[in-house]
Amino acid sequence: MSRTTCILVCAALAPCVWAQDAGIGDPAFPTLGNRGYLAGHYALKLTFDPSTDAMDADVTMSGVATSRLSEISLDFTGFTIRSVTLNGHPVKFRRSIGKLYVKTGLGSGEKFTLETCYSGKPVQTQSAALPAGMKSGWIPYLGGAVAACEPDLAHTWFPCNDHPLDKATFDFQLTTPRPNVAIANGKRVQSTGTNYRFSLDKPTLTCMATAVFGQFTAVSGPSAQGVPITSYVAKGVSQAARDRLKLLPKYMKILTDRLGPYPFDTYGAVLLPTALAQSNELMAGSALETTTLPLFGPFTEAAPAILIHELSHQWMGNCVSVTHWGDDIWWVEGFAQYAEWLLVESEHGREAYENEVASAYSQATAQTHWLKPGHLPTEDLFSMRSYIGGALTFHALRRTVGDVQFNQILRQFVEKHRYGNASAKDWIAISSQIAKRDMSPFFNAWLYGDKNPPLPR
Ligand code: TRP
Ligand code: ZN
Repeated sequence: MSRTTCILVCAALAPCVWAQDAGIGDPAFPTLGNRGYLAGHYALKLTFDPSTDAMDADVTMSGVATSRLSEISLDFTGFTIRSVTLNGHPVKFRRSIGKLYVKTGLGSGEKFTLETCYSGKPVQTQSAALPAGMKSGWIPYLGGAVAACEPDLAHTWFPCNDHPLDKATFDFQLTTPRPNVAIANGKRVQSTGTNYRFSLDKPTLTCMATAVFGQFTAVSGPSAQGVPITSYVAKGVSQAARDRLKLLPKYMKILTDRLGPYPFDTYGAVLLPTALAQSNELMAGSALETTTLPLFGPFTEAAPAILIHELSHQWMGNCVSVTHWGDDIWWVEGFAQYAEWLLVESEHGREAYENEVASAYSQATAQTHWLKPGHLPTEDLFSMRSYIGGALTFHALRRTVGDVQFNQILRQFVEKHRYGNASAKDWIAISSQIAKRDMSPFFNAWLYGDKNPPLPR
């Protein structure tokens, strides 16, 4: 039997011995992840030396086997591995492209800890989801480094089950020489000397974990809706960009009014240094919603629209996450884009909002094909199809069911799926239940139809 046939047959006959090779089952990234276990927690101890860009790491994954596992596979590339231990005992391992295999003999339901010690210089990588030449993942720059890994590159800095279907909590112990500091997701816990500790105790996706090394000043703002805010501003960032951080409490209010309470314990933006622009074209002009600690490239200027965009991802994307990248990115990027229009509405009123929608709609209909954001190929995950197509779907939903029901749908979606994963069928189910009618024709037209649906006013 060929391997392909085996995978097909096995899919119907779970649990399956091939599971560790087959990936978690996301067509956008067929080899990524593993269905045979769930990693609930990662403890990352990293030492980063900005003079050599080398990293020394000791990463422990705590997980549970969901099937019998003679061997376990993690996603991992690069570095030299010094040792791997399972439940405290040294074990044999082997590597192939993108994977680390470890002999286990774990039974289904068995808990385990897997510790990997490694060192070396991480490399910037090309994700199949991002434009050619736009490298991401671990990004070194003059004087520091930052991890920006959405959607598929977390395993270029730590070994993990690199798919949103396996969300986990994180602990960080980061060491770097002065005058640099280190920052990571979650709450800062007692740090001493050049050792910085952070802890994120709500689960999030591997690609939204980050560590940032460089010269930053911590700026604690007023709390927002009860959430403490500490941002980190790189040396040399403009005062104008820094001043915009004062808008965060206002944006927090706009979003909690729509989506319910902020889902994590802390928040704060990282304003990255201009030195990054020399070493990385992608991050220079983008932002990434790393959980509780979004990253803003130097050319974003922390503009109001992008500030609310990344904040909204904490609910849509980080708290409630995709099931499959290509089927779900529309409501992640679509809602974040829509949040930008909500900001326009809140600042400048209904007419200004309608103008945003109208110009997006004409941009969409100027294409040769309707955007059909509901099922995107890997290379279109972060394209106009997800951002504009998704945002227009939210606008159309609001106009179809009315403001009251629209807000109920948003809140219930987050409430029901928080800290987990969701998909288009969950939007259809919740919308149908709240609107008291079958909303699948609506979603079918906006997400999967070949023709542009008329824009409801
Ligand atoms: N999610 C980002 C946004 O808010 C876009 C993005 C995807 C990104 N992958 C990235 C940005 C990697 C920087 C690096 O729109
Ligand atoms: Zn986004």
